[in-house]
Amino acid sequence: MNLYQICRPLIFKMDPEVAHNAAINFLKFCPKTATLFALNRRYENLQQKLWNIDFANPIGMAAGFDKNAEAALALEKFGFGFVEVGTVTPKAQIGNDKPRIFRLEQDRAVINRLGFNNLGADNFAENIARITGQIQIPLGINIGKNKDTQEALDDYLPLLERFYQQATYITVNISSPNTKNLRDLQNENYLDGFLAAIMSKKNELKNRTQKNRPVLLKVAPDLTVAEQEKIAAIVIKNQVDGMIISNTTIDRNLNLKSAQSTETGGLSGAPLFTKSNEVLQNFYRFTEGKIPLIGVGGIASAEDAYEKIKCGASLVQIYSAFVYQGFGLVEEIKNQLSKKLKRDGFTNISQIVGLNLR
Ligand SMILES: Cc1cc2nc3c(=O)[nH]c(=O)nc-3n(C[C@H](O)[C@H](O)[C@H](O)COP(=O)(O)O)c2cc1C
Repeated sequence: MNLYQICRPLIFKMDPEVAHNAAINFLKFCPKTATLFALNRRYENLQQKLWNIDFANPIGMAAGFDKNAEAALALEKFGFGFVEVGTVTPKAQIGNDKPRIFRLEQDRAVINRLGFNNLGADNFAENIARITGQIQIPLGINIGKNKDTQEALDDYLPLLERFYQQATYITVNISSPNTKNLRDLQNENYLDGFLAAIMSKKNELKNRTQKNRPVLLKVAPDLTVAEQEKIAAIVIKNQVDGMIISNTTIDRNLNLKSAQSTETGGLSGAPLFTKSNEVLQNFYRFTEGKIPLIGVGGIASAEDAYEKIKCGASLVQIYSAFVYQGFGLVEEIKNQLSKKLKRDGFTNISQIVGLNLR
């Protein structure tokens, strides 16, 4: 039993959002104490180069944990291969009414309806400036729109420009279920023009800065297969650099046992695993393995990460499992993933990407 597991009953007595804010503050103000027992080992067979960026291992912190980019330096110490911060919106916003995060303990899941609560782009930029040059691992910046913005591009384009240089990659998040009409941006009629504008801005920034920052699209797991096929075609057509699959689900037909499962919002954690893997495999097939995909949804062990990679993910991200297992999970997954690769006769993690589909 590790330290987190000993403390967990106490942590679970707290409201989930209060516990989350306490964790962020601990990581922000006491990074040395918070990371005292972190190992952060390197495993040669987990290293990869994607988009010309070095990833020491494929395990990333998913967006939404560090919404204001306050804890990335501490997170690095826990051994993550990369960290994604945000979602950041141009203006600060308070999000939906509380309570708005729920633990589904029997299901090892979480439901949230936060609604992009964050301190806004100015505060975010200050926090990013503080860690630029210090953080060694790739830093993804996840951008979104304010609740009251009518034309989405009015928010996404300035955010892309503002954070282009400091980010290792940018995630365009159009898949949160908690901002009204956000997921409509995934509709094919809108998406093509939207991504054309995003990628045109990216190319302008690339030429101006002489830096090539990959732009990734994060999608929902609730798309039909026909929608997935159309989105994949639009992504390839517009030369989007990669995709993140997936965000939380609004589906509740997942054999949930917890009383809290009737809460409105996005469901994440173990029950999302199979569903997000299916969507991931579809996108891997539809994009013909031409662009790297980041797989996220329900990973809680090395076996899960291995399976997600075999479904087509070059990298993976985790959030909900940390609520149940703490950050010691990162090192445990790295260690077991590295051993499993060797046992199965592979010399590098990249060799199993999309293996289920080959
Ligand atoms: C409390 C909470 C807040 C989240 N906030 C965001 C967010 O701001 N932006 C985003 O792209 N995804 C957000 N997510 C989704 C995660 O990044 C991830 O896609 C999802 O939780 C599935 O991974 P998991 O099953 O490992 O948690 C959030 C998830 C949770 C649980």
